[in-house]
Amino acid sequence: MSTAPASASGAAPTRKAASAPASPEAGAPTGTAAALGPSFDGVAPVLPPATRPAPAVRIDGVSKRFGSGPVVLDDVSLEIQAGEFVCLLGASGCGKSTLLNLIAGLDQPTAGRIQTPDAGSAVMFQESALMPWLTARRNVELALRLRGVPRADRRDKALSLLDAVNLADAADKRPHELSGGMRQRVALARALAQDRPVLLMDEPFAALDAITRDLLHEELERVWRATGRTIVFVTHNVREAARLGQRVVLMGSRPGRVVQEWRIAKTAGRRIESPEVAALSVEITDQLRKEIRRNAA
Ligand SMILES: Nc1ncnc2c1ncn2[C@@H]1O[C@H](COP(=O)(O)OP(=O)(O)O)[C@@H](O)[C@H]1O
Ligand SMILES: [Mg+2]
Repeated sequence: MSTAPASASGAAPTRKAASAPASPEAGAPTGTAAALGPSFDGVAPVLPPATRPAPAVRIDGVSKRFGSGPVVLDDVSLEIQAGEFVCLLGASGCGKSTLLNLIAGLDQPTAGRIQTPDAGSAVMFQESALMPWLTARRNVELALRLRGVPRADRRDKALSLLDAVNLADAADKRPHELSGGMRQRVALARALAQDRPVLLMDEPFAALDAITRDLLHEELERVWRATGRTIVFVTHNVREAARLGQRVVLMGSRPGRVVQEWRIAKTAGRRIESPEVAALSVEITDQLRKEIRRNAA
C-alpha cells in the first residue's frame, strides 16, 4: 500500500497505520499444485494457515491527555513485529516520550489499548542513570540481581555483557571516570541484562558528540542483530532514524499522531554518510517540514 511518490532512497513509504505483516500474506494459491498444471486439476492446494505472527507491540487507537490539558496523542495505531527495529521520529514535543512511556507501561492511555509481551520491556533514556557509587560491572550486576540471576553467575554475565558493548576494559571504573559514550554503553549493557524481549530507547545518544554517536549506532546495530531484540528507538534526529531503523515512523505534532512511515529493505552496511541514508533523510525531512508548516499555519 504505497500512496506516496516513488522513493529516491529506495525505502518504501507507507501512509498512516499501514502495518503490513513481516511475513508474506498467507492464502494465495501459489503452492506446488497450482504450479504443476492441469494433471493436478481438482487437487486443492494445501494452504498454510492464514496466520500472521503476533506483533511484539500492538498499539491500537491510543490517545493521551494529561488531566484537562490538550490532547497529546490522538488515535495512534502501530504494530511492531518481534525483532523489528523501529525508529519513532518527530519534532520535540510531539509526544514521542509519552508514547514510549505508554509502551513501557509507565503510564496509561486515556483511550485505546497497548499490548506488549508478558516479559515486558527494558527502557533506556538520554541520561544513563547509573548508580554513581557502583562500578560499571556492579551497575550491570545490579540489573542481573533484580532479574534473579544467582550471585555466583552475575560477575561473568556482567563482564560478558560489558564485552558485548566493547567495554570490558572499563568494568572496574565508576560512572564519573567514564565518558558520556561509555556511560551509555554501560546503560545499554544494563538494559540487556534485564533480558526483556523489547528494548525501548528514548533519545539515548542525543547528548553525545557526532563521532561517539556514530560508533554507538554501530554497536547498537550489532547488538540488535546478535540478540534479536525488538527495538523502539525514539529520536528527533532524521539522519539517526534513517541510519538505524528498519522502519521509520514519522509523528506529527499537536496532537501527536502517525503521519507516514518508511520501510527500509536493505539495512546491512548502512553508515550515517551512506548515500541511501542521505537520500532517505532528504525525503523524510521534506515530509517533516510539511508537518511543521501545517502546524504553524
Ligand atoms: N506528565 C505530563 N504532564 C503534562 N503534560 C505532559 C506530561 N508529559 C508530557 N506532557 C506534554 O505532552 C507533550 C508531548 O511531550 P513529550 O512526549 O515529552 O514530547 P517529545 O518526547 O516528542 O519531545 C508536551 O506538550 C508536553 O508538555
Ligand atoms: Mg522526549
